Amino acid sequence: MTQVIRTSAELREKVAAWKRSGMLVGVVPTMGALHDGHLSLARAAREQSDRVIVTIFVNPMQFNNPDDLTKYPRDEAHDLALLEAEGVDVLFAPGVDEVYPDGFATTVSVSGVSEPLEGAFRPGHFDGVATVVAKLFGMTQAGRAFFGEKDWQQLQVVRRLVEDLNIPIRIIGCPTIREADGLAMSSRNVRLSAAERAQAPALHQIMQAAAAEIRDGAPVGETLMNAQAAILEAGFSAVEYLELRSVEGLRPMANLSEPARMLVAAQLGDVRLIDNIAV
Ligand code: PAF
Repeated sequence: MTQVIRTSAELREKVAAWKRSGMLVGVVPTMGALHDGHLSLARAAREQSDRVIVTIFVNPMQFNNPDDLTKYPRDEAHDLALLEAEGVDVLFAPGVDEVYPDGFATTVSVSGVSEPLEGAFRPGHFDGVATVVAKLFGMTQAGRAFFGEKDWQQLQVVRRLVEDLNIPIRIIGCPTIREADGLAMSSRNVRLSAAERAQAPALHQIMQAAAAEIRDGAPVGETLMNAQAAILEAGFSAVEYLELRSVEGLRPMANLSEPARMLVAAQLGDVRLIDNIAV
């Protein structure tokens, strides 16, 4: 039975009792609209911790686009049923006032790794993420936190945050879960029309082809330019970025001189899709 907790005070008592019994607590922070990607994180948490908390909080502070916040899918009853089936111990689903009470005045801002890519196209997004993640770590007092590699840059921002603020929690990155046709699972995918859903897997296919070419020695700049054109031809209306970055520190890379990640953000109809793969 998954217990639903809405206040930080109640959660703190619960976690303190677990910790008194020597239990290791894992947390999976989410914004709900759960899919198999989230459930794979809950499973990893289940395997690597004694007790599992999944948090659901649609964090207004990380939405730079108010329309995206309004349209963000929400279905707590369905999410709860999925978490029950995974044997999650607690669903922590605080309201906005619990997370950001009157007088709240702190912003956590991670510089460097949060500045390019998503940071450049979604101003303030990572301040919102870093602030809420720091709060959720404080509220849950968990010893391990599980994040998907689907949001690769977010994972790097969270690792930096924890390191810089000496937050006593181990961050565990888990592989992106994909649909059978390669589309990375995302809560936003439900907003794709049937026609867009059929076009969407092209993003991953084109990235994979470009990554293979780069590994075979093709020039990075030209390969990415061709891949960008192919994404537009596949029906996407814009490519915000398609870049090769170093795994360590997300530095731009003009050639494959160290382990790299290819990252993309592209617009399909009303929906902004992001993805990334190892190169
Ligand atoms: O990845 C997400 O769903 C969110 O950015 C997170 C980490 C739950 C913070 O709101």
